[in-house]
Amino acid sequence: MSAFEPLPARLASIGAAVLPDEPSTAPSLNWAIIGAGYIAGLFAADLQCTQSAAVAVGSRDLTKGQAFADQFGIPFVGSYEEAMSRPDVDAVYIATPHTFHKEQALLAIDAGKSVMIEKPLAVNAGEAAEIRAAAEAKGVLVMEAMWSRFLPHYALLRAIVESGELGEIKYVRAEHFQTLRGTERMERPDLAGGALLDLGVYPASFIEMLLGAPKSIHASGHLTEAGVDEDSIAVLDYPAATAVLAAHMGASSQVAAEVAFTRGQVVLERQFYRPTEIKVVWNGVADGPQNADSAEPYTEVWSDVAVDPRGGGLEYEAAAFARAVKAGLTELPEHGWSSVTNVLEIMDEVRHQVGVVYPFE
Ligand SMILES: NC(=O)c1ccc[n+]([C@@H]2O[C@H](COP(=O)([O-])OP(=O)(O)OC[C@H]3O[C@@H](n4cnc5c(N)ncnc54)[C@H](OP(=O)(O)O)[C@@H]3O)[C@@H](O)[C@H]2O)c1
Repeated sequence: MSAFEPLPARLASIGAAVLPDEPSTAPSLNWAIIGAGYIAGLFAADLQCTQSAAVAVGSRDLTKGQAFADQFGIPFVGSYEEAMSRPDVDAVYIATPHTFHKEQALLAIDAGKSVMIEKPLAVNAGEAAEIRAAAEAKGVLVMEAMWSRFLPHYALLRAIVESGELGEIKYVRAEHFQTLRGTERMERPDLAGGALLDLGVYPASFIEMLLGAPKSIHASGHLTEAGVDEDSIAVLDYPAATAVLAAHMGASSQVAAEVAFTRGQVVLERQFYRPTEIKVVWNGVADGPQNADSAEPYTEVWSDVAVDPRGGGLEYEAAAFARAVKAGLTELPEHGWSSVTNVLEIMDEVRHQVGVVYPFE
């Protein structure tokens, strides 16, 4: 028997058992979509992989809203408030720029609806606390649409960590580079623009999922002429680990993440926050130092952490949300209020150190 056989067997046994159920098996909800923009279109398309349906769309521009409704077969078009308050609507999906999330979430909560809010849930931790208080007072489910947390490869990663097979986490790196200069909502301070809130929320959420709230943060970055962050890079210090977060909207590089454990490594090489393959490396040393005499590391690549090929991956968050609503939950175990708050507190501190101050704060 090779020295490595026991570990692959244990890792392989983690595989299928922890993956989320098929989105098509989740109960059905009637959705109102608020804001007929880019991500709203992806969500409406992926909803078709579930039993749920969009029954209303709210738009500032009824002609644009009608075109969206025609594309996805949505029967009602109206203002944001008309769409979200309809009696046939169970759940409201808020897909407007960050600065409108709080106001629209409070309206939807007041209408007694369950609410899913695009990421980031709010501009800062203070706004999130207001939304949380309203949701708890009304007893409705409110969730941030951090879709990655509901994807199969994130579930697999959590299970690998919990198994302890790779030992303790010592280091996490997560980077999101995407050239988005010139995109209006990214450039404008009054729309809470900048790299951190839009792109950095993914690395921040990845790190938070694995390590929770940091002890301290050291951040640097560069501001655009308008005063939003073109990049934010931060080192997050934990009692027994270090994490590095990078977000850049003016340079092209990888969108990758890595977790270094005492006995191995997990690598998400390409677009870590989307459905992607997950590579697990075990360094072949159960305890003690790794040296040149160590055997070759054992590597397992799960490239078939498959999602329904008809969908882009947002169907997993929609399905998890529908299951939670039907179960009467007010937060989701994969992504509850503490993780939302931790991530916004991380971003508040990074922004403070980088020097981004929004005009409405
Ligand atoms: N989960 C993801 O992968 C993902 C990806 C991209 C973005 N997002 C998040 O989703 C939100 C929207 O991003 P997006 O890329 O979909 O933006 P977008 O294409 O600009 O769409 C946003 C929509 O919000 C409405 N809106 C209301 N007031 C607006 C204003 N002053 N300026 C611009 N739009 C306004 C518009 O809809 P009407 O004209 O119909 O009212 C607009 O189409 C952001 O919070 C972003 O972080 C998430």
